[in-house]
Parts: sequence; structure tokens; C-alpha cells
Amino acid sequence: MNVPLRSAEWFAGRPELAFQHRSSLRSMGIDPSHYEGRPVIGIANSWSELNNCNMNLREVAEAVKRGVLAAGGLPLEFPTISLGEEMMKPSAMLYRNLMAMDVEETLRSNPIDGVVLLCNCDKTTPAQLMAAASANLPAIQLNGGPRDVGRWRGKPVGSGTDIWKHWDDVRAGRISRSEWDDLEACISCGAGSCNTMGTASTMTSLSEALGMMLPGTAAIPATDSRRISAAVETGRRIVSMVEEDLRPESILTPAAFDNAIRTLLALGGSTNAVVHLIAIAGRRNLDLPLARFDELSQSIPFLVNLSPSGEFLMDRFFAAGGVPAVLAELGDLLDEDCLSVTGQTLGENLVDAKCYDREVIRLRDEPISETGSLAVVTGNLAPHGAVIKTSAASAKLLEHRGRAVVFNHYQDMLDRIDDPELPVDADSVLVLKHAGPKGVPGFPEWGMIPVPKKLLEQGVTDIVRISDSRMSGTSYGTVVLHLSPEAAAGGTLALVEEGDWIELDVAARKLHLDVTDEELKLRHDVWQPPKTAHLRGYPRLYIDHVLQAHEGCDFDFLRPRSEEELQFVPPLVGRS
Ligand code: FES
Repeated sequence: MNVPLRSAEWFAGRPELAFQHRSSLRSMGIDPSHYEGRPVIGIANSWSELNNCNMNLREVAEAVKRGVLAAGGLPLEFPTISLGEEMMKPSAMLYRNLMAMDVEETLRSNPIDGVVLLCNCDKTTPAQLMAAASANLPAIQLNGGPRDVGRWRGKPVGSGTDIWKHWDDVRAGRISRSEWDDLEACISCGAGSCNTMGTASTMTSLSEALGMMLPGTAAIPATDSRRISAAVETGRRIVSMVEEDLRPESILTPAAFDNAIRTLLALGGSTNAVVHLIAIAGRRNLDLPLARFDELSQSIPFLVNLSPSGEFLMDRFFAAGGVPAVLAELGDLLDEDCLSVTGQTLGENLVDAKCYDREVIRLRDEPISETGSLAVVTGNLAPHGAVIKTSAASAKLLEHRGRAVVFNHYQDMLDRIDDPELPVDADSVLVLKHAGPKGVPGFPEWGMIPVPKKLLEQGVTDIVRISDSRMSGTSYGTVVLHLSPEAAAGGTLALVEEGDWIELDVAARKLHLDVTDEELKLRHDVWQPPKTAHLRGYPRLYIDHVLQAHEGCDFDFLRPRSEEELQFVPPLVGRS
């Protein structure tokens, strides 16, 4: 190895400490011949039995180790916390920053020269990228892949999306409880992430578009042997990345983030990616304003016909050519000079990329829609912006004026949403407060408020919904999310009252509460911030330090505020 190795400071530094460090490796049967002059490669594994989506990462890690060893490195696997979207309450998002801290600090405090980041379920991907951006050691990411597609009543079912769809059918009495039970047994068939273009597949696709994952790996199914081959190749490649001293600072550039946003828009990907990309960029001291997402959405066509925005599932996406085929179709709309983990540019990586199924990945000349799949709206209800996934919304509701039906918090909504006396009709606007980053805390995916039962029974399938919350990447509907500032931080959302008129005009990028400034001031004068029961521990830290949605919901103290803070590397001297 021609570059000085960081790990050598542990193993060939102060004699008495080096002795200690070498002897601790010997206790695992690893003598100096395994690491002298060779890079130590950390494998950050988010496997957990509390996270079914990451279940195959042990097998993947073994394959990565084979690649590292074959290339002359020493692999050392370590566990990290895992964020299982289904199990963690109130939301895995509450713990994204904790996982980012866990990974960053493990990298900083150990003799690691480069790292392979094993992710899959939604938040594990951005958490690892935030950590890698901060630690700035050579890093490459690899996911566990999307799960197989289950079939129910002979038809393929999409993770998450089909739950929401058929839950409405249950509530409206269109399917029986036993059919619902059958769906439960087949919708999550085996290891892997959701097989829709939900948040997990969106984020792994964007990791690839950013240049942090080997080209073509994000969409390989969890059970396909090509994923194991990709793991071996990833292990080989990280050893070369250490040799080349190729670090995230060279890959995670402003141009790379623009490419990721363009990819998100072409994919019709999850709104959650907006928050995550802002947070990852923030770790490199890069500002990614919501206005940039909206600006790019005017020129990027929506190309990928995947659920929940479209028809198909991840198996078809992989067969169609996956992320490289989408990037190749975007072509000169991207900055093809961005460097990637391959050591080559995005353009060089795409030389052989092809699309094999135009039903799934459309031609630029025949897009699903001419403009991107997301829009940012602002106004007195969201001075710092709010996000709507236009590709998953009802076109007729994108320009709408209706009276507010207000839920003060999530439990209030659950208690009253199906009440026959709820004063709601198809033109109403459902408003949910106190479901944002500080409000719960943790910014859960409560934004897809169910259509009230009495409307479902009338055949209404969509209604305008507004909140300071997020929604699952597998959800759909005319749902305005991430209102910033949130209600718990004193945003205008806190002041909305039952019956207020609200205007949504997506074409004009407007979200307006039709209440005079004088009246809003009167309401604000008597507004009291909500009390929280969280007086200690991590949730307290979260409430005190989380940034608002338009700033990516990182902690204020984790985001560098200057070039000096960005470049600071804690000295190793004195670590014993
Ligand atoms: Fe884990 Fe969807 S719940 S990927």
C-alpha cells in the first residue's frame, strides 16, 4: 500500500499502546502479517432481527469480507444500531441521527482505513451516508436489496402501498377480514427491503446516483446471487479506494447532489429523500434549499413507472436496467463528470447502461410527465416550504380550496377520523398538527391521514391532507407534507382553526391559510407551545437540537457551520 494508513497509528505508534492494540487483535487470532502494510476495512453492519428488511446482511457481509481479503485488506465487521421502519416507534426517523452518530464515532475511534456500509431499510441508508460524509474516510455503500414480490389473489402485491390501499377496502367493507389476513401472510415474503419505489429503494438508488455505491447494485433483488457477487466486488473496491485515498469529500459534491435530486424526480421517489439529501449535504457544509428541488423539478421528466407513483415493482425495475438505465436516459441532464466510488466519473460508469423495458423506464421523449414528481409549495402556512409528491396525488386536487378539518394531534385524528359526526366532505382539507420533528418527537410518517370512513363509503378515494409530518415512501394521495416551521415550533399550522379556508395551488407553488395577518397575530398571542413528557434521554436531546424539515432534521451540533469545522479531525494522540 503506497498511502500512509490511518490504522498504522494504532499498530505501529507509541510502543506500549501499539503492543496493546496488536495483542487485542491476536486475541482474535489475527497476527501482524494480516494487517502490516494492508488496510483495515470496517464493515458497518446494520443487520438485526428487529429489522426484517436487513436480514440478509450477514450473508452479504461474508461476501464483502471475501472481496476485502482477496484484494489484500483485513476486514473487521462491527454491528451498528439498526433502524427497522416497521418495528421502531414512534418512528425510525427519531433514531436516524443516533445511527449516524453511532457509525461516525465508531469510524473515528477505531483503527479503520476504509469502510463498507451495509444498509437496506429506509433510514439506515441516509444515516450511514451522513456518518460517512462527516468521518470522511474512504467509504462505499451496499444495500441488501429489495425483497421478492408476493402474490395475493394471483396478483403481485407491493410492500406498504398495497397495505394502505387494501386497508381502505377493509374499512369500506369491500374485502373481508380473512382476505386481509391472507394479505398479511404474503405481502412481506422474505428478506429484503420494500419492493416498491418507497423510501428504501429511493435512498439506495440515490446512493448509487450520488456515486457512493457500485453502479447497478441498488436494485439487485435480495435473493439474487448477483447481490453476493456485487458484495465481493464492493469488498475488493474499498481496498483500492484506500490506496487511491478516494474519500466522500471528492464524491459528495454540489453537482453530485444535483444529480441525486434529478434522479429522485425521474424516479417518482419518496418525499423522505428530500429531508435525507438535505441532511447528508449538510454534513459536507453544503446547503440544499428546497427551492433547488423545485427548480430542478421544472426540467426533469418523470420517467419511472413504479409503485406507489406508478404500476410496477422493483423486480421489473431491476430487469429493465435499474438505476444505470435511468441515469443513462437522463444523460446530458446530469453532470456526468461527477466522481464515484469506482474512481471513474458517472458518465464513464454509464457507457454500457441500457434500458430493456420501456414500459418501466420511459424514454425522455415519452415521459410519464414532462416535469418532475415533486413540488415545493410555500405561503403563510409554510413560510419555509412544504413538499407534495405530485406523481402520487390526484390531478384534480392540485388546485383546491377547502375548509379545514383540524386534528390537534395524531391520537385526536385516530379517535375521530371514522366518526360519522366528523364535519367533513370531499372538499374539506384535513389538517394534522404536532406531528413534526419536535412535536412527537421524531417526525413520524403520519401525514397520509386516512380518508374518513364516511367519505370512503361515498366512493371518495382522495382528499387534500396537510401536516407537519412525513409520509411513508410507499404511500400516496394528495398529501402536503413537512410544513415548516412545524406546529410545535410555533409555525402557522399551530394557528389553524376548524372551518378556516385553505388554498392549495401546486402550479402556482402556493399553500395559503385564508386568515388575515391581524387574526393570525391574535391567535399567536394566545398560543402556548405544547408541553412534552420527554424530560430526559435521547428524545429530550432530539427535541432540543433537531433542525426543521427544510434543514434536513439533523442535529444542529452535527452540522458543520464553517470550513474549519468541516475539516476538523480529532487528533488520535492520547487515545488509549
Ligand atoms: Fe424496511 Fe420498507 S419497511 S424497507
